[in-house]
Amino acid sequence: MGVQTDQTAHDEASTTPTGCPVSGPSAAADVDLARALDTPFPWPRGRFDPPAEYGALREKCPVARAKLADGRPVWLVTRYDDVRAVLTDPRVSADETDPGFPGMGPRAGTYSKMDDPRHAELRGLVARNFGIKHVASMRPAVQAMVDQAIDEMLATEGRQVDLVPALALRIPANVLGNLLGVPVEDRDHFAEQIQSMLDNGNPLDTEAQERSRRIAEEVYAYVGELIDRELARETPSDDIIGQLAAAHRRGDISHKDAVSSGFLIIGAGFDTTANAAALGVLLLLTHPDQLAKLKADPSLLDVAIEEVLRWLSHVHLIIARVATDDIEIAGVTIPRGEGIMPLNASANRDESHYPQAATFDIERRARDHLAFGFGVHQCQGQSLARMELSVIFETLFRRIPELRLAVDVDEIELKTSARIHGVRALPVAW
Ligand code: HEM
Repeated sequence: MGVQTDQTAHDEASTTPTGCPVSGPSAAADVDLARALDTPFPWPRGRFDPPAEYGALREKCPVARAKLADGRPVWLVTRYDDVRAVLTDPRVSADETDPGFPGMGPRAGTYSKMDDPRHAELRGLVARNFGIKHVASMRPAVQAMVDQAIDEMLATEGRQVDLVPALALRIPANVLGNLLGVPVEDRDHFAEQIQSMLDNGNPLDTEAQERSRRIAEEVYAYVGELIDRELARETPSDDIIGQLAAAHRRGDISHKDAVSSGFLIIGAGFDTTANAAALGVLLLLTHPDQLAKLKADPSLLDVAIEEVLRWLSHVHLIIARVATDDIEIAGVTIPRGEGIMPLNASANRDESHYPQAATFDIERRARDHLAFGFGVHQCQGQSLARMELSVIFETLFRRIPELRLAVDVDEIELKTSARIHGVRALPVAW
């Protein structure tokens, strides 16, 4: 199969121009940008906020040349308008096999790392599972799952649980399990595997990268088994694995494309949503004024979810591209063949687009945020993610209105170096 690490050795010198002058004072006074740009990217993020350097870059050098751990250059695009422009620019590619591609995780040949028309063909094959109507039809089943999880929480002695396994992981693991057709007995194991694949994703730690690649191989092989089992069945199933196997049987796609598409959806749909749920609850519990507003007016739920997604931007190191031509953005030319990180976590905190962007305000109408990306690769599962979050937040705060953190917020361990930001454990009480 094709799961490889991205960081192949490269001997590019690190003393390259940064794109614009970065010395001298800036509003983010304590940030030394020249030094940051000489430190391998990605940079450490705060517990909740994106790296402080992003704010200084937006102000002083919105298109800046940084470097990856292996010395290859990467252009950081930090302003909202520029990030959107990059993500719709036909001179930008998502092809991970391009030598300049700044990928940060195992490579598995999935359609998220391909260009159109191949990307559109493979994405189109499973699109019906993610449309608004289909997602709405799944809502009652998700409601039942959430109610059952909360019944079990309420039955726990001591009125305290870790919300991560009790709810945040459990719902997306089962939603995805049903959607794909993962046997119930395998779900806990696959949930653990995906989490550790992403937890070991620190792009600056080569050993962790290797662990992540090995786990990805196992998950990939498991999806391959599911496809093969499906191919051996006489009556095809109508889940995503069944649809992919049927497309292969018809000769529309290769076996490899069938497996990699299943692998992509499993990898993309689980930890993303689980961490949005857990971090979202944490965010609301630590902003009691905002939570009180939501409880007083539940019709704010949809806009509150958009604000949670904007503010967290927790899927923050997934969007990577490479220039297929020289591209000028904000007066800076990104040369053909060099990598680009359109930083959605920075764009979502751009003051020129979101006044007082650092403030968490559930009444902000932030649906144009870039937490799901933008352009042809924009998250395919966004309606599903929104629906899951809506059922989880609505049911949790309605059924347990007295929910509170069981420990001090500073004691909560966050996954600050993972490719998807998240929370390891979230002890809550009522
Ligand atoms: C809060 C939850 C989620 C967030 C924040 C999120 C975020 C993202 C982002 C930022 C991308 C864009 C990558 C790029 O432009 O290169 C993406 C792509 C994708 N997401 Fe999500 N995602 C979430 C949930 C889901 C779910 C539930 C599924 C499916 C079950 C899913 C499936 C996908 C797929 C298949 C892609 C690749 C799309 C393509 O390349 O055409 N995501 N997601």
